[in-house]
Amino acid sequence: FVVNQKNDLLSGKRVLISAGGTRERIDPVRFIGNRSSGKMGIALAVAAASAGAEVTLVVGQISVELPVHPQIKIIKIESTNELLNTVMTEFTQTDILIMAAAVADFEPEMIADQKIKKAADNDEFVLKLKKTPDILKSVGAIKKHQLIIGFAAETQELNKNAQAKLVSKHADMIIANNVVTDGIGFESNDNQVTIFESQQDPKPLTKMSKMQLANQLVELIAKKLGD
Ligand code: CTP
Ligand code: CA
Repeated sequence: FVVNQKNDLLSGKRVLISAGGTRERIDPVRFIGNRSSGKMGIALAVAAASAGAEVTLVVGQISVELPVHPQIKIIKIESTNELLNTVMTEFTQTDILIMAAAVADFEPEMIADQKIKKAADNDEFVLKLKKTPDILKSVGAIKKHQLIIGFAAETQELNKNAQAKLVSKHADMIIANNVVTDGIGFESNDNQVTIFESQQDPKPLTKMSKMQLANQLVELIAKKLGD
């Protein structure tokens, strides 16, 4: 990471950030995962800590190094349910929650105790999945003074889908991007997002590095806290 400029935009604030992808176990050797690198959430943790916040970074599967910073406490999780439990526990001592993790929408209905064998007489295998809990929705329902910020990865109808998530998740801000546009999202170092807030026009930001974007988001969040 580039050394980030220090400021006091979030001094004294407690920020809870989730980053990376969840893994849902199928059996002792297999899981359902996703392509999240964790870069955006980690950049946000660094930006928030550089702005004076006490950061708790809850990380799932990532493909980059974890940040080392005196103001960043790290908690590792694997599944969506572990992430939910951690977020719920930490939430009461939080001022700002940013859900940058790529959370699985479905998990196996049952986790097999033993490695699942391929049956000789069957060319198909059906894995039954059930919905995971929606973490943002769960905290949205119990939030008091906290600011809640979510991400939205879309491949179509960005505006409509992001606006709907703002409402359904009781979020104060949704940071949305189109994941099929070339060179952004997932493993990329760059990101191009649009900011959605209630009663405000969508704010499209230019394409920039995830670290630059994290710093801009910290500025926007600090401004929102002051409102
Ligand atoms: N999220 C969450 N709990 C889930 C799924 C998603 O808290 N079980 C959070 C993500 O971390 C993100 C936001 O909700 O901040 C939006 O995630 P996204 O996958 O875009 O939306 P979903 O509500 O899961 O809807 P869909 O995938 O069908 O678009
Ligand atoms: Ca989803």
